[in-house]
Amino acid sequence: MDVRGLGKTVALPDGALTILEDVAFTVERGDAVAIVGASGSGKSTLLSLLAGLDTPTSGSVHLDGQSLSTLDEDGRARVRGEKVGFVFQSFQLLPTLTALENVMLPLELRGDADAQAPARRILEKVGLGARLGHYPRQLSGGEQQRVALARAFVTHPALLFADEPTGNLDTHTGQAIIDLLFALNADAGTTLVLVTHDEHLAARCRHQIRLDSGRLVE
Ligand SMILES: Nc1ncnc2c1ncn2[C@@H]1O[C@H](COP(=O)(O)OP(=O)(O)O)[C@@H](O)[C@H]1O
Ligand SMILES: [Mg+2]
Repeated sequence: MDVRGLGKTVALPDGALTILEDVAFTVERGDAVAIVGASGSGKSTLLSLLAGLDTPTSGSVHLDGQSLSTLDEDGRARVRGEKVGFVFQSFQLLPTLTALENVMLPLELRGDADAQAPARRILEKVGLGARLGHYPRQLSGGEQQRVALARAFVTHPALLFADEPTGNLDTHTGQAIIDLLFALNADAGTTLVLVTHDEHLAARCRHQIRLDSGRLVE
């Protein structure tokens, strides 16, 4: 991943607000990077730009050799589908689908003939082999985040973006989720970009990118 001169400014009623300014860094394939900084420093905005969920005002993002700025909305959606997995603080599972169906979904969306076998396999790997038919509301927070991890990794993404993945979990459960995240990451050789305000968690990543009011701190 290659990020150059990245900036994001939004127009507000009382003027322009600069959320990110001149952010630049590179991440080698398979590396783990933490984006840290105080609340409101621009971490989530940066992650959205890196993942092609949002478009920058200036600068560029290359993912796996592909420049996001040359792509339209559909093109970026295709790159996300092919290369990117997401894990969010709020799990973002579909409430009307079982654990198994939630994990099958990204495979079905890309047209895989057999979604069920790989979805079962990865749910077993994250310790939820006995919970396949459970709906999100029947699962604890930690279990829901395990399902979300399974869903993120089932497509073997080149990049995984995680935004405060332990933010809604107690310390002990959060630790277990992070251990699992790093294990899946190491297994799959995924490039991991992790947003967190937890310094202990950040220290487990090989590199740290620190934001202060939308700018990189060296
Ligand atoms: N679309 C938007 N419009 C206006 N302000 C925004 C928008 N998105 C983010 N912000 C502001 O930009 C700053 C950075 O937000 P965010 O990236 O969510 O920070 P973090 O994830 O580090 O807490 C915050 O002050 C936030 O209120
Ligand atoms: Mg945030």
